[in-house]
Amino acid sequence: MNDFVFQNTTKVYFGKNQLAKVPDELGRFGKNVLMVYGGGSIKRTGLYDQLMNLMQNAGLTVYELSGVEPNPRHSTVNRGARICRENHVDVVLAVGGGSTIDCSKAIAVTTLADTDDVWDLVERKVAYSKALPIVTVVTLAATGSEMDAGAVISNMDKNIKSGLGGPMCRPSVTFEDPELTFSVPAFQTACGSFDIMSHVLDVAYFSQQEQMDMLERIQEEVMKTVVKYAPVAIKEPDNYEARANLMWASSWALNDFMYCGVSQMTACHAMEHELSAYYDITHGLGLAILTPRWLRYILDDTTAPKIAQYGRNVFGLPASGDVMEDAKKAIDALEDFCYNKLGLESHLSRLGIGEENFEKMAESAVRGKEIRGFKTLRKEDVMAIYQMCM
Ligand code: NZQ
Ligand code: ZN
Repeated sequence: MNDFVFQNTTKVYFGKNQLAKVPDELGRFGKNVLMVYGGGSIKRTGLYDQLMNLMQNAGLTVYELSGVEPNPRHSTVNRGARICRENHVDVVLAVGGGSTIDCSKAIAVTTLADTDDVWDLVERKVAYSKALPIVTVVTLAATGSEMDAGAVISNMDKNIKSGLGGPMCRPSVTFEDPELTFSVPAFQTACGSFDIMSHVLDVAYFSQQEQMDMLERIQEEVMKTVVKYAPVAIKEPDNYEARANLMWASSWALNDFMYCGVSQMTACHAMEHELSAYYDITHGLGLAILTPRWLRYILDDTTAPKIAQYGRNVFGLPASGDVMEDAKKAIDALEDFCYNKLGLESHLSRLGIGEENFEKMAESAVRGKEIRGFKTLRKEDVMAIYQMCM
């Protein structure tokens, strides 16, 4: 178990009647607000009007950046940073899912950096240590970006999806109202839910490192929450209990707590970011296609006990006494969850993806060397896993 420092400073307002506090929280940082949002869901749900009224009645001046793409583009970040600089924006308000929040974080950093191109920061050509304060109103339970210190940005000209981060990127305040997720369509609910599961298993649970027993039990409970409530939210989109459980699970899956003492590279996330960078596919869908294949590929005597434990403690499978058989059944249960219970597509080929870029993608996923984690993966391993997904 590694030594660790834990400090999560995000203040969270959770529940149905909290949005009235948004102007007070923004006002702590100044009068000029950049409100960042996506392709229009917040206009359809009425959230845009609600927030605008609250902010205008409080005397705040609101600038807007709309149209943030799922898999947010670096060019959109640069547009946002320009608006902030030209208008002396004091605080960035992200209203949306992980893409909007990540874009907002990157805007907040770029505004105060010695460059007008966020890609200089992603490529570490320009150092950064400051950001405008960030406030979020979350509308989709998935990434955990609302409480974490990272942001993932895509440069489609270069087919690169990469990140930036640090304490300055962590939102100061986050509003989580599960009712705001009632309108999330079944597909995005499924993808977001699998992303939550993946943050626990890819970042910490499937690790060769020794972990605190307490954390391992909590990781299993968070994954069980996804198994229990994602199908409910898909069938009954306005089930408050299901949406609330998924929302809080999302924030805790990736807010640093769950992986205290573990440091490893994330295999499925590294492989998925290549799929998004080349084919612009939805992050959670890519993870759901990759994860069962990854587990099957790395299944051996060293990994079977933990995979079997996952089957018992997350999917409630019985122990047969044959660890290898139990591990195979655990992977079957995961596939059933992804492709039947969540209803997600199971094959890359059915998304129109061919094998032509697999070598370049694998090279980039292993960062020219290897992914060190539950099992070390080299370029050839990653290519084989992509092929298993066809
Ligand atoms: O753009 P709008 O119109 O708002 O529609 C969005 C978008 O089309 C829609 N949506 C969001 N809330 C809604 C809604 N539709 C109806 N009602 C609502 N209440 O959902 C679509 C997807 O939104 P997006 O923000 O892209 O989804 P998600 O939250 O899954 O974010 C994905 C992005 O986050 C990155 C991913 O790689 C991807 O770029 N990640 C960020 C992480 C982080 N910051 O720590 C970690 C993750 O592993 C992940 O990599
Ligand atoms: Zn993720």
